[in-house]
Amino acid sequence: MCGIIGCIGRGKHTLDTLVHGLEKLEYRGYDSAGVGVLNTDISVCKTSGKIADLRGKLDGQSIAGHAGIGHTRWSTHGPPTDANAHPHLDCTEEIAVVHNGIIENYQGLRDELGSKGHCFTSDTDTEVVAHLIEEFIAAGEEPSQAFRTAIQQLEGSYAIAAVIEGTTGLFAARNDSPLVVGLGDGASTDEDGGQFFLASDVPAFRDFTDRVIYLEDGEFARLDGGLTITDSEGKLVSKTVHTVEWDAEETGKSGYDHFMLKEIHEQPRALRQCLRSRVEEQTATVDVGNLADLNPSGVQFVACGTSYHAAMYGAQVFREAGVPAQAFLASEYATAPPPLGDDLVVGISQSGETADTLSALREASGRGATTLTLTNTVGSTMDREFDHTLFIYSGPEIGVAATKTFAGQLTALNLLSLASVEGSRQRRELVPALRELPGDVQRILDDSMAEEVAEYYEDSRSYFFIGRGYQYPVALEGALKLKEISYEHAEGFAAGELKHGPLALVDGNTPVFALVVGDGEKARKTVGNIKEVEARDAPVVVITDGQSDAERYADHVLEIPESHPRTAAVLGNVQLQLVAYHIANRLGRSIDKPRNLAKSVTVE
Ligand code: F6R
Repeated sequence: MCGIIGCIGRGKHTLDTLVHGLEKLEYRGYDSAGVGVLNTDISVCKTSGKIADLRGKLDGQSIAGHAGIGHTRWSTHGPPTDANAHPHLDCTEEIAVVHNGIIENYQGLRDELGSKGHCFTSDTDTEVVAHLIEEFIAAGEEPSQAFRTAIQQLEGSYAIAAVIEGTTGLFAARNDSPLVVGLGDGASTDEDGGQFFLASDVPAFRDFTDRVIYLEDGEFARLDGGLTITDSEGKLVSKTVHTVEWDAEETGKSGYDHFMLKEIHEQPRALRQCLRSRVEEQTATVDVGNLADLNPSGVQFVACGTSYHAAMYGAQVFREAGVPAQAFLASEYATAPPPLGDDLVVGISQSGETADTLSALREASGRGATTLTLTNTVGSTMDREFDHTLFIYSGPEIGVAATKTFAGQLTALNLLSLASVEGSRQRRELVPALRELPGDVQRILDDSMAEEVAEYYEDSRSYFFIGRGYQYPVALEGALKLKEISYEHAEGFAAGELKHGPLALVDGNTPVFALVVGDGEKARKTVGNIKEVEARDAPVVVITDGQSDAERYADHVLEIPESHPRTAAVLGNVQLQLVAYHIANRLGRSIDKPRNLAKSVTVE
């Protein structure tokens, strides 16, 4: 949700570094973009639209400087216009600010600054920050103190970076929005000189360094000749330098047309990474370190969107193991908090930064719960803030639509359950299926007929997805994936629920995608539901391992290898990812950056 970047020490490459960083952060928002470069004065260039539009606007301009800031926006306050694009300036145009988050008390601050004669040129909450810094400098404070005093007036969430004329570097602060410092060539924590970066996320500067420092809430950073990090009281803080474990190439498209397609195809590798050194087939053992000792008597999952579908799946896994478990939409959790008892509260979040999930975990933690984060993002706020972390190790996911990370989440949920609450019988059943999973996914990727199915149904205006048990969250996920990237109406249902209302919407133009696994009772009942929609002339696409007679009632079949019902959920989902991708691609949609969405949703 908005991406910010800053750099210093890049000499004549300052502007390029900023724009390159914004391109890597564009998944966080693409309503507008802008840069501010500090020389003796500040040059700002900004525009509504994507980074490509900013590049166009910069073409032919000579903007040079030793330090700079940049921003790519997902609109919260005010429409995506040039005026609302960041950076925002004060009245003197000597202070430029970029911001990710929401300043909740901005209206009061704006009114107060307005009454003192400050003129505002945008609708944003961010602009108050530039004017506040101006106000405190005018009152005689040194720029770094004025920046600190200004930040202390703010309520809400922010990762903020500023440049101020007459100073040599960048000022930054964070509260509830991610901010990471990169130490480039010649940079260290105790000597001056070298290149420093600042960004909402590591991919922004990963081409230049793998050494990073994660800022905590309440911390301030000053990047000039060196790096100074202070806490909210101004005391120096000594920070650990972390090494990023993935390569810069992983944030490129590697020849695929879209990040989404690349990431769908990366699933075998991502799953191998998730399973590596955690499952041992011969002994049927699962190792998730000391998480095995958690042995929860109850589990509450909190998550949003795709991760919520993983949470629904996780709750079923634990319930099947005899542990009471429930999935909550994170945005609803704190509004009516459930009784906690001794429950473990598990936040599932690809980014580890989603504001709704963070606040649900904080709510639970504040009531004394043991908290665990299941995430893809090492060093994310959730990783650092809560009691335990289980990483899914999917590698960077850039496409806004979550794909490989959903597969990683389902897999890691099985590892957690098998290691902490399930017995040797389940491990003997599941471990071989998990070991087979990367190869089974590869077989689907090699042979899928999803593109043909997409071609056949691309003109439909409404799509239904149904499944039972572990296939129900996958039905919801299939519908979410299709609607978010194709902009067509799609709904997922528990297969048995169709007849309780939604069936009224089904007609000959409503393709129904049905997930049918095995030949047990669930499969037989789902086949019954397929017959119900068939009787209403709906075309049926069955995603199946071929064990039941579901294919007899299907217009099209998308095959998956035979597997355990839990791992079959991952496999069926791969077919649905491909269907969504190909429909959206044929409709010419903006697949990696669907309208109105952003990858990391850091506002509630
Ligand atoms: C859909 C999608 C979103 C995210 C949701 C939570 O493809 O990506 O629904 O799943 O915004 O994000 P994380 O997992 O980062 O908390």
